[in-house]
Amino acid sequence: MSLQQEIDKRRTFAIISHPDAGKTTLTEKFLLFGGAIKTAGAVKQNKIKKSATSDFMEIEKQRGISVATSVMGFEYNGKKVNILDTPGHKDFAEDTYRTLTAVDSVILVVDSVKGVEEQTERLMEVCRMRRTPVIIFVNKMDREGRSPVDILDELEKKLQINVRPLTWPISQGKSFQGVYSLYEQKLNLFKPEQTKITEHTVEITNIDDPELDRWIPGAFSTQLREDIELIEGVYEPFDLELYLEGMLAPVFFGSAVNNFGIREMLETFLEIAPVPDERETDQRIVKASEDKLTGFVFKIHANLDPNHRDRTAFFKICSGRFQRNTFYFHTRLGKKIRFANPTQFMANEKNLIDDAWPGDVVGLYDNGSLKIGDTLTEGEELQFRGIPSFSPEIFKEVINRDPFKAKQLEKGIRQLTEEGVAQLFMQYGNRKIVGTVGELQFDVIKFRLEHEYGAACDFTPLRYYKAFWITPKDKPQYEEFLRRKSSVIAEDKEGHPVFFAESEWMLNVARENYPGVIFHETSEFKTEGAG
Ligand code: G4P
Repeated sequence: MSLQQEIDKRRTFAIISHPDAGKTTLTEKFLLFGGAIKTAGAVKQNKIKKSATSDFMEIEKQRGISVATSVMGFEYNGKKVNILDTPGHKDFAEDTYRTLTAVDSVILVVDSVKGVEEQTERLMEVCRMRRTPVIIFVNKMDREGRSPVDILDELEKKLQINVRPLTWPISQGKSFQGVYSLYEQKLNLFKPEQTKITEHTVEITNIDDPELDRWIPGAFSTQLREDIELIEGVYEPFDLELYLEGMLAPVFFGSAVNNFGIREMLETFLEIAPVPDERETDQRIVKASEDKLTGFVFKIHANLDPNHRDRTAFFKICSGRFQRNTFYFHTRLGKKIRFANPTQFMANEKNLIDDAWPGDVVGLYDNGSLKIGDTLTEGEELQFRGIPSFSPEIFKEVINRDPFKAKQLEKGIRQLTEEGVAQLFMQYGNRKIVGTVGELQFDVIKFRLEHEYGAACDFTPLRYYKAFWITPKDKPQYEEFLRRKSSVIAEDKEGHPVFFAESEWMLNVARENYPGVIFHETSEFKTEGAG
């Protein structure tokens, strides 16, 4: 198969949701459709349980297992589907953000009863920033939830994206009858079925077809006809271009646990979702169809088992063909490295591979030379963009508990932050401030410092609201700002100055008083300044 054919075959995406909306269930049903698993339950076992929040070792154990399900590949209708798993737990949000930099599109799951929840809004912000095409799945239609029209309104308002339903539910809750596909003009009748795929599909010529009344009780078919008339009147026809630009989200309704409404979505997804295309680097745009290999590391998973102290780097291929045992150029270190045991993931199995293509994610065994954001090429000096750090939400100062272990602490903190466990900021040369999205990370750091590096530390909470990367618009004013605010300014791991705002109000005051300073919400300010 040619490189272009391999590219055209691939759909690399993530399923994201607020915890409990049904992400794991939907992932599992996709794998079931793809024949990658035989019965439901396989993915579920690997899920990080919400109940385990305080028990970090339990979570790590589960995370250890879940490395195999970090990327789930399967073939369906001649397409190679790569689902990149994202942790549902909110304390691992950074992991999720980074995974979103490696996908070509996203399926967002919303609970029809709860509607759009907080974490969904934040994930959507990241998608919007990157203009990632999004498909929305409104799940749990078998429950008494909000009306579909209300849900669509809420999606538009809270997620700030135009929506276009491609299927429409016929009633919901106890009287849920099924969905009508506006895209295919088919009626899919609901029959709860949790472990197998059985479907009852009726083809009708259009919504006025009397066949509809044969299958759907009178009141529901009347309602459906009214709804469809309303939708067709209110919403523009589905525009593929707008979807691919991340401006319009097609919406599907269904019930993941009952395996219902999934096939329509999967098949439409395979038809419309983008294939690996192009990606920005600091130097130029790289096209997937270029024959030389390029790619970047977006995630590192450390094995916490003291007997197997290895790390797996997740490498996303952006162009060309990846081959085992071939030397590639590590652009940050300026040296050549090769991989004898690259792996790929199929459902819950990890397999050695000889080659892989754009869109694929390869697991690389790493002994410490790779970090998040690293680029590999066949010799060209490139650095992929698009893996920004986002502001942490919890900040704490690291206090060394054992002066004789200062070196170990230094090394441990550096390595753990390189793995992406947390962000490290340095102040006055050696004051270390660690920033995370969740409290759990501090337990992770403490535990790992002790067990892996023999270092011990305490954390002193700092009352910062957010970190902002700053750059000058007016040099003298910027320098004055750095001088005057030195107590709330530090450097990130690349040496870029960061301002810690104590509150939103303080940020606004700083913005007003220092118009010569630009405040950025992410570390990649060359493209994404918050002004
Ligand atoms: P998550 O990964 O987004 O956190 O959600 P997950 O798939 O684990 O689903 C959360 C709960 O919602 C699960 O119930 C799951 O069975 C249920 N669920 C998923 N899809 C549907 C649906 O279409 N209808 C209904 N009624 N429920 C659905 P649980 O009790 O937390 O877990 P379990 O004991 O069922 O495994």
